[in-house]
Amino acid sequence: MKILLKGGRIVDPSQGLDQAADLLLEDGKVVALAPDLAEEDARVLPCEGLIVCPGLIDLHVHFREPGEEWKETIATGSLAAVAGGFTAVACMPNTRPPNDNAEVTRYILKKAQEAGLCRVWPVACITKGQKGEQLTEFGELKEAGAVAVSDDGRPVPEAAVMRLALEYAKNFDLPVISHAEELSLSRGGHVNEGLASARLGLRGIPAQGEAIAIFREVMLAELTGSPVHIAHVSTRSGVEIIRRAKEAGLSVTAETAPHYFSLTEEATFGYHTNAKVNPPLRSEEDRRAIEEALRDGTIDAIATDHAPHSPLEKFCEFERAAFGLIGLETALPLALHLVERGIISLPRLVELLSCAPARILKLPGGSLREGSPADVTVFDPEARWVVTEEELHSKSKNSPFLGWEMRGRAVYTIVGGRVVFSRRELLS
Ligand code: DOR
Repeated sequence: MKILLKGGRIVDPSQGLDQAADLLLEDGKVVALAPDLAEEDARVLPCEGLIVCPGLIDLHVHFREPGEEWKETIATGSLAAVAGGFTAVACMPNTRPPNDNAEVTRYILKKAQEAGLCRVWPVACITKGQKGEQLTEFGELKEAGAVAVSDDGRPVPEAAVMRLALEYAKNFDLPVISHAEELSLSRGGHVNEGLASARLGLRGIPAQGEAIAIFREVMLAELTGSPVHIAHVSTRSGVEIIRRAKEAGLSVTAETAPHYFSLTEEATFGYHTNAKVNPPLRSEEDRRAIEEALRDGTIDAIATDHAPHSPLEKFCEFERAAFGLIGLETALPLALHLVERGIISLPRLVELLSCAPARILKLPGGSLREGSPADVTVFDPEARWVVTEEELHSKSKNSPFLGWEMRGRAVYTIVGGRVVFSRRELLS
């Protein structure tokens, strides 16, 4: 099957490309990129006025299968991903049971294959049962298909355990993703410590707790000589530590999520449980520092931390509500808003949402070079739409962006040379 994408603006930072051109895909691979390609037996996708880029890769989602399928299954999560323009996602291991053994890893891959939409890359636990004590079998997990290890949802409380994990992971060339949280400071907290905690009368989670935890990981990267990836950075002080670590030549990468540059703690002020997330939404100063870090390269990637919860876990008192919000279908327009405001360029956006995630997790994709997998995202940067529950494909609707007018939306999502999502067909 041949697909010819005609007349789009191709943005591919992996080749330093930003130009009008056609793109030809065949047998699951990119075969040609040039102006005015003609191919008689190809399915032609008209891309005039659209951006064509390497498929977006979300290196941090929570699909709730196995165990909490009422919130999201791998199939519904995959549909939300491709509707949001993502061709691949890495799913975190805090399922029930957690992905701490090869059987769960294989189950996830089987479900992903049955769904047949985006690529789903399992991230396995660092410690058994995410208890922070005994390491899992990294070799077996990698062999079963895990692409990284993390206890995400929880930190690894003991530095000595994290040190062992970093040393052990090096043997298997497995990236380690850190959920950087100092539990002794965050435990019992619900919102950012500061304005939100004072205003809502709820226990706060101080920014410094994140910074302390990031500093520990940076020091362990130095001690072990192993790379570490910091998940969902939300604070100015966290950003500053990562910046200094990079300047010192340490092997540290970091991601943030769209809610940390689009919202502040003010979003929680009405006890809005859809804005309850961990780490919490922070101050305006933190939000600006995240923007600057995306601009100057301190933060390498944007990941959604898509965390679906049903009304059972969200339609309740703030203190009882679960942490987490969905993000797969709003990430692209929220990132485009940074472009619109002149914070980052369009190529930088593609770098943050595609090239860098592929590099960090050593995944195929993130490039439209000839011979690369035919994973392509085509989006309309001008499309205006309003976020409503009906518009979202995720099984859960816990978005703090409901009611927002967005600009920018995926039009075609192509995985391995198959058009797995076409908004044009959906509309017709
Ligand atoms: O808000 C969050 N929700 N933060 C996490 O670290 C985990 C996630 C979830 O699994 O719901």
